[in-house]
Amino acid sequence: MKVVAVANQKGGCGKTTTAINLASALAVMNQKVLLIDMDPQGHASYGLGADPMKVEKSIYNVLTAASDRKTSIENTILNIWGTLNLSPSSILLSTIEQEFRDVEGAVSRLYNALNSIRRPFDYIILDCPPSLGFLTFNALRAAHLVVIPVETSKFSMVGINKLMNMIELIALKLQHSPKIKALITIYDRRTNFSQRMFDDIRKFFKTNLFETTIRINVTLKEAASAGLPVDRYNKSSNGAQDYSALAAEVVKESKKIQLENFYKDAIALLNQAKWFSYVFKYTSQTAKDVYVVGDFNNWTVGESNRLVSKENGQWEAPFELQPGRYRYKFVVDGQWVQDPQNSQTEPNPFSGVDSILTIAP
Ligand SMILES: Nc1ncnc2c1ncn2[C@@H]1O[C@H](COP(=O)(O)OP(=O)(O)OP(=O)(O)O)[C@@H](O)[C@H]1O
Ligand SMILES: [Mg+2]
Repeated sequence: MKVVAVANQKGGCGKTTTAINLASALAVMNQKVLLIDMDPQGHASYGLGADPMKVEKSIYNVLTAASDRKTSIENTILNIWGTLNLSPSSILLSTIEQEFRDVEGAVSRLYNALNSIRRPFDYIILDCPPSLGFLTFNALRAAHLVVIPVETSKFSMVGINKLMNMIELIALKLQHSPKIKALITIYDRRTNFSQRMFDDIRKFFKTNLFETTIRINVTLKEAASAGLPVDRYNKSSNGAQDYSALAAEVVKESKKIQLENFYKDAIALLNQAKWFSYVFKYTSQTAKDVYVVGDFNNWTVGESNRLVSKENGQWEAPFELQPGRYRYKFVVDGQWVQDPQNSQTEPNPFSGVDSILTIAP
């Protein structure tokens, strides 16, 4: 499950248009998608034909702490068509910031709700309101990827730093760093001004910019008014094509994030589990083969636990072991024997005695 937040506190830069049409384009690619309308204005809900004034349960009921109103996210989901689903907004969402004023941990309410979701979704798309309050904070905290729509008009970059600071704060306080990618929207390549803005945006975001740009296209407006994603309204329009290209890029980006997280987890795990080198030694002038078996290798004889013959009847096998207490024995020419050099022993349930090795952390 990948969580994609569409965020920018600047109004009218194409957040909702992006959230709706990206969600729909992903669903066309057979992905299971849930669009969550995090904006009290409810534009994403209207844009998918749902009326926030009429819905019984909205994302408000998921985020609230009021026990008589609270519900699971599953209870809010409306199926739009095929694999596209919506968790709608309601005007009550505008009161939620007040409810959680000064409540510690409130920033993770959406994150926790998404973690307990039982239905399998490939993508969860979050349409944020044009502000940097509780709702946007919750969305950024839950997101793996943050898409920042930026239109190519005057003042469009004003305030971007504030959004970046908020993302940095989440990284510092919560050790959560979503990937950030800007998306150029409402782009009119015919004007010089748009071209210049395009260059400025690219300079600011560098590689953190989608290759796809969303061209200005009146069909996107018409589709929203008709309560339809653009690919349902007019599949051959520029708008439908651009959002389909964006969806393909988001899928590519998600795979990269998955791989990066996998390596991050693996490295964390390796750092967490410290390994120590220990050399098992046995002395015999006459032995033909010697193995060491114990708790650390399921007591099975194999090539990886064969001791190598050194000079003067010395046999050795180096091992990497984690701290712990291990029972072991040598297997010398098929006979199980204790380690004669180790006085630490313990009886085993088979009336024998095992040698004991303790590796302290
Ligand atoms: N590529 C585009 N071409 C033409 N019109 C567009 C395009 N993208 C968005 N619009 C129109 O611009 C207006 C603002 O877009 P939208 O609602 O997506 O922005 P927003 O960032 O969600 O706004 P808000 O901050 O109020 O939530 C809408 O009328 C929308 O139809
Ligand atoms: Mg919007």
